[in-house]
Amino acid sequence: MKDLVILAIESSCDETACSIVKNGREVLGNVIATQIDIHKRFGGVVPEIASRNHVDCISNVVQECLEQANMKIEEVDAIAATYGPGLVGALLVGLSTAKALAYSLNKPFIGVHHIEGHIDANYITHTELKPPYICLVVSGGHSNLVYVKDYTEFEILGRTRDDAVGEAFDKVSRVIGLEYPGGPKIDKLAKEGKPTYKLPKTFFEDSLDFSFSGIKTAVINLVHKEKDAINIPDLCASFEEAVTDVLLTNLLKACRQKGIDTVSLAGGVSANSYLRARLDNLGQENNLKIYYPELKYCTDNAAMIGSAAYFDYINGKQSGMDLNAMPYLKLGDKLRK
Ligand code: KG4
Ligand code: ZN
Repeated sequence: MKDLVILAIESSCDETACSIVKNGREVLGNVIATQIDIHKRFGGVVPEIASRNHVDCISNVVQECLEQANMKIEEVDAIAATYGPGLVGALLVGLSTAKALAYSLNKPFIGVHHIEGHIDANYITHTELKPPYICLVVSGGHSNLVYVKDYTEFEILGRTRDDAVGEAFDKVSRVIGLEYPGGPKIDKLAKEGKPTYKLPKTFFEDSLDFSFSGIKTAVINLVHKEKDAINIPDLCASFEEAVTDVLLTNLLKACRQKGIDTVSLAGGVSANSYLRARLDNLGQENNLKIYYPELKYCTDNAAMIGSAAYFDYINGKQSGMDLNAMPYLKLGDKLRK
């Protein structure tokens, strides 16, 4: 088959990103302009500020990516962008840019599901990875156990009933006085501590769903009760242990239910070193093959969007110019035109 080079744009939250990806697995250019420093002082992402910053830097990010790949825009075969889920104003910037490029260059356009992108980030790092497998998606906005039946076929086996894992990390970190985003800071502090605090873990009978609000609330109550006496590194280690126990218990159940021995991690929290180490152990103990994306492809980036766009495109899933941003798009929604 002829090579397919896709220019992809991601702007669903607080990173403006562009990537050029060949055949869904080879990254030729990858640029990410992060707004973390801008949103930090507000303790989280401010949607209106995010949209304005995307507008300011999208053209430069695309240009820089083309320079990195040493390509002219006319040389790419198709243009892709995230169309949901995410912040509507932020999504519209990348989506409109991609549609304008595709229309003016008369190239195919592919709207990509952000979570499918996170899942597909693994195809870049692991060129041998093929469906079927189970993917544990743990990001700032989503926590799902997904059965990846094929490159474009996903079945949700379990989902969070309240907070997403990354959201719990960020809320806990705010309560203990760490800067946004809290995940990486908790990851670092937990290495200096021990899991000495007992936190409640929620499991549902006959369901692979998750709940993290109990763990989060218990941490918040502990901080308020013990005040200065609290040992922050121990609390971080305890929080990570409780969250990871819940995630991995359900992940193992999902593998047994489906008779699957291949597992991948995806989303921002897949950068967490404790979660990765525990998953490695789980893999060794249960004879599972474990995959996770390179650190730079765990959090939001456009290479993962370029990868997902490739598999969509070769499976006939091209989008029309009337595709709108869909902020609340769920995994498995087939709303693409
Ligand atoms: O996937 P992502 O970049 O954005 C969404 O699509 O939501 O995920 C961002 C989330 C944030 O909640 C951040 O705190 C978390 O990923 N995160 C981590 C780590 N690095 C990023 N959480 C735990 N440990 C990390 N090392
Ligand atoms: Zn994301």
